[in-house]
Amino acid sequence: MFSFDQIQSRIEEGLRHLQYANPQQSLYEPVKYILSLGGKRVRPALVLMACNMYKDSVEEAVMPAMALEVFHNFTLLHDDLMDKAEKRRNKPTVHKVWNENTAILSGDAMLIFAYELLGKTETEYLGRILPLFTKTAAEICGGQQYDMEFESRMDVSEAEYLEMIRLKTAVLLACALQMGAIIGGASEQDCEKLYRFGVNIGLAFQLQDDLLDIYGNTDVFGKNIGGDILCNKKTYFLINALQQSRGEQQKELLHWLSETSFDPKEKIQAVIYIYNELRLREQTEAKIKEYFDVAVSLLSGLDVLPERKTVLVEVCSRLMNRKF
Ligand code: IPE
Ligand code: IPE
Ligand code: MG
Ligand code: MG
Ligand code: MG
Repeated sequence: MFSFDQIQSRIEEGLRHLQYANPQQSLYEPVKYILSLGGKRVRPALVLMACNMYKDSVEEAVMPAMALEVFHNFTLLHDDLMDKAEKRRNKPTVHKVWNENTAILSGDAMLIFAYELLGKTETEYLGRILPLFTKTAAEICGGQQYDMEFESRMDVSEAEYLEMIRLKTAVLLACALQMGAIIGGASEQDCEKLYRFGVNIGLAFQLQDDLLDIYGNTDVFGKNIGGDILCNKKTYFLINALQQSRGEQQKELLHWLSETSFDPKEKIQAVIYIYNELRLREQTEAKIKEYFDVAVSLLSGLDVLPERKTVLVEVCSRLMNRKF
């Protein structure tokens, strides 16, 4: 079995060898830029690890793993535009280095490239991999649409929030695991269990991302802190703050949400002050732990030897303690 580090180096090697069909320099410079900035490579790692639980060679899973990383990076180009984010992976976002149209079109090119890579999967698996990917990609668009619509809504419930993050984030992690399992030759039941494992770590992953957007260190997180607060994103923090705040505190929160001209630093500071008063960090951390615990418990039902699961358990603890 491959170690976490071996999996990571196989991914980097795969990314280095990507060949763009008919590359038009100005369209592909931003693609190379975003892919060269690193990132955790969580999704391709999950593909290879899931495959490796059932098969000693992960080579057949490399192309789909590359496809998911390229697809993920496409979503980041468009997401940063939608979220008006200026920094990612400690570097200016594509729409800042180039312009908005470039972020849109290079993103589109990446989505097409992702399909091209996926199409290189062994035909034996393609019949199952392709519809899984297409369904997942459509769900992510739906999640992103909710995310945008929720910015201007004040009555988003916790259930709606959880469904939104399931769609925008969790299903891609679940898809990665299931793809790996399919290529590894896992049973139908194990494919389903790994999908559910992925949804649970995905929910925890997005809750953690929301937390780091407030309490992270910019240089480590690689993104500007407080971006969600400035957009009135309905994060787990904000929907709970709206529900749990009272009197003057709630008036203050509603003031910042409706204010259209403000000093960004001042708004971020004021909203975080309210989050702290309500002890929302602790509540969110408890929720994150809940999802990770469910995820780990799902691993016990898999039809593989315990030592084959250790890498996934390690991934869980790494993700739970992540700072970026
Ligand atoms: C960022 O994903 C988008 C979310 C779903 C929160 P990652 O945190 O995996 O970003 P990179 O790829 O490691 O930079
Ligand atoms: C991103 O959620 C989900 C997708 C990219 C589909 P966020 O908007 O919270 O991700 P970051 O924080 O910008 O990475
Ligand atoms: Mg964003
Ligand atoms: Mg977003
Ligand atoms: Mg975020």
